Amino acid sequence: MFSFFKKRGNVESEHIQNIVEDYTNIIPIAEYFKSETGVTFDKQISILQNKVTTFCKQRNIYSFLELLKLIEHNRELKQALIDTLTTNETFFYREFKQIQELVGLVKDAAKEVTILCAPSATGEEPYGIAIALLEAGVAHNRFHITGIDINHDATSKAKDAIYKARNMRNLTPEIIEKYFLKDDSVYILKESVKSQVTFKVLNLFDPSFITIGKFDFIFSRNMLIYFDKETKNRAKEILESLRKNPNQEIFFGHADLF
Ligand SMILES: C[S@@+](CC[C@H](N)C(=O)[O-])C[C@H]1O[C@@H](n2cnc3c(N)ncnc32)[C@H](O)[C@@H]1O
Repeated sequence: MFSFFKKRGNVESEHIQNIVEDYTNIIPIAEYFKSETGVTFDKQISILQNKVTTFCKQRNIYSFLELLKLIEHNRELKQALIDTLTTNETFFYREFKQIQELVGLVKDAAKEVTILCAPSATGEEPYGIAIALLEAGVAHNRFHITGIDINHDATSKAKDAIYKARNMRNLTPEIIEKYFLKDDSVYILKESVKSQVTFKVLNLFDPSFITIGKFDFIFSRNMLIYFDKETKNRAKEILESLRKNPNQEIFFGHADLF
């Protein structure tokens, strides 16, 4: 339906190539993306088709088939596709009750603890946890947080730690005043909080993921919502294997139902 011929190359050239522009069969891309990231577009296949069509057109890639071939050897292109197709919506103090519960557990632990946020998106969750712990009087040297996410752009933003008011709506003016510097319309997180968190670009399903180490507490909120049942269970098993204490419950989001 969307197929037609395009000419690629210089019109003066003797070797003008006719390329079939074909953005029709999105299924192989959906299958590839799910096998790589766990994310399924089963119920949003037309959204996927529109996003990938735009992605291809912006890069002069003439068909989904060509995209699949290119991705095999081009890691940057693959990362750009992952960055385009993953949803990084997040904000400070999301589902704050769980953060409060964690604060209580960390205080009770009375030792240095490690916390994993998988996924960390643009950083609001791990930084929010750090702020809540500091506010509760937990010393800087009593905790460290690791944030991981498959999205490279989101992780760069997390490292920059510069936020707009919209994502800080749950923070009080006192907290904002204490932990951020205001610059025009943005808020820059202070180093005292930034230094509590380390970010890494990682795919939960990458075989090397489990070498990241073991953690006292694990947050994994609002990622499993993008997975089907079988993939959710696989993700849960991977995360459970990273617990120092096998009895410690993982903090999943309320929407991440099994
Ligand atoms: C909606 S955000 C959730 C962020 C935060 N935990 C929260 O609840 O606000 C979902 C994140 O999951 C990440 N993600 C999806 N699949 C992933 C995978 N296989 N490995 C690591 N991160 C993944 C996406 O890049 C996205 O940033």
